Amino acid sequence: MPPAQKKLFIKTFGCQMNVYDSNRMADALAPHGYLQTSNMEEADLVVLNTCHIREKASEKVFSELGRLKKLREQRSVKGRNTMIGVAGCVAQAEGDEIIARAPVVDLVFGPQSYHRLPELVTRAKMERVIDTDFPEEDKFEHLPAPARKISASRGLSAFLTVQEGCDKFCSFCVVPYTRGYETSRPMAAIISEARDLAGAGIREITLLGQNVNAYHGPDADGNENGLGALLFELAGIKGIERLRYTTSHPNDMNDELLAAHRDLPQLMPYLHLPVQSGSDRILQAMNRRHGSKSYLQIIEKIRKYRPDIAISGDFIVGFPGESDEDFSDTMTLVKEVGYASAYSFKYSPRPGTPGALLENRVEPEVADERLQQLQELIKRQQGEFNDRCCGKTLSVLLEKPGRQDGQLAGRSPYLQAVHVDAPSSMIGSIVPVRIKSAGPNSLYGELIAD
Ligand code: 5AD
Ligand code: SF4
Repeated sequence: MPPAQKKLFIKTFGCQMNVYDSNRMADALAPHGYLQTSNMEEADLVVLNTCHIREKASEKVFSELGRLKKLREQRSVKGRNTMIGVAGCVAQAEGDEIIARAPVVDLVFGPQSYHRLPELVTRAKMERVIDTDFPEEDKFEHLPAPARKISASRGLSAFLTVQEGCDKFCSFCVVPYTRGYETSRPMAAIISEARDLAGAGIREITLLGQNVNAYHGPDADGNENGLGALLFELAGIKGIERLRYTTSHPNDMNDELLAAHRDLPQLMPYLHLPVQSGSDRILQAMNRRHGSKSYLQIIEKIRKYRPDIAISGDFIVGFPGESDEDFSDTMTLVKEVGYASAYSFKYSPRPGTPGALLENRVEPEVADERLQQLQELIKRQQGEFNDRCCGKTLSVLLEKPGRQDGQLAGRSPYLQAVHVDAPSSMIGSIVPVRIKSAGPNSLYGELIAD
């Protein structure tokens, strides 16, 4: 007899890897009768897939749990049980605290336990469960592949985790503690997953890893391969027309990866390469293991391999000890690179990281002011990058209906949102589009007639 049908709601916070993980959790529970819903109120099992990267992200968990407590009470009046689970990086870092502080939670499990989810849910019916071990076995080997129909329902573009964790230990960052040390999946497993995605009609794959360009997975002979070699293999899969990867460390941009950017038309000309600061003093305090000059040299080199590449980055302002001069070095670096887009954050001390022990904290008002200045500069650069696209023809993957009737929304090679007048029958096509106008966050263009 098939298992009784139940509803599952997953709320995802944080990075793209959490989005991927949420899908894999749903895949693991599907054979056990759990159907994913977008309506939290009808869910028999609610999972919060959490992020610990900054304090603000972490705090969201506890406020969300307050809301869930009320939901559980309302459902219980109607005679319905609701199981509540907390997954992801807050679960990994603060599992015991969640159990102690939030009696509403039945189940806490870290990112390395997702393959055990069906078993954990069964146990949680009898007792509160916490599983934040780093098990020996490879979770990916035990996670079921999604059904083709489910993959297809998730859109034309998919994430695929190839590497997880990090050994770099930047002094501000929780990732090595929440996701563990750096591990790479075997090439064959990744290629097989990519083939399944292609078979389900997916046209674009973004390879994920906290330090994705440090990928060093074994091939069939047990020899290690880098991300460049993996990309060359994936580019051979019929149906996969676009490849991307994120997020990278400057020290791992090796020549093979640069050659992939030069030689593979499938590899989109977009690189997210965080530098965090433009000051060598601060980079050292952050334990980044590179300076501003070497970062600029890498950018220059990659532009030689792929002249039209769009560069994106991450920045932290207000790291302990950051002076006006250090911040001014960051602004100078941003001007030198010319970003197509970038993300910037105010430093948030994370418990357990070396950065949290540093004195010489920057006043919050000073950090706010710097963040605003940096964000203005980045916004201006993004606008200029978009403006430069006007009059050009870009290939656009048409993904979904647009904001206005008769319009579709898609993505350019440079990851810009593009609105195009086109019929819905063209969803799924990659078409040349003449860009007519640009806004700060999107482009508008017209199909080029055959
Ligand atoms: N405070 C602020 N920003 C952080 N990031 C990582 N850790 C912190 C922190 N403690 C930012 C970095 C990273 C991005 C994912 O988040 O810029 O690249
Ligand atoms: Fe957040 Fe980092 Fe965990 Fe992603 S890996 S969910 S960014 S803490």
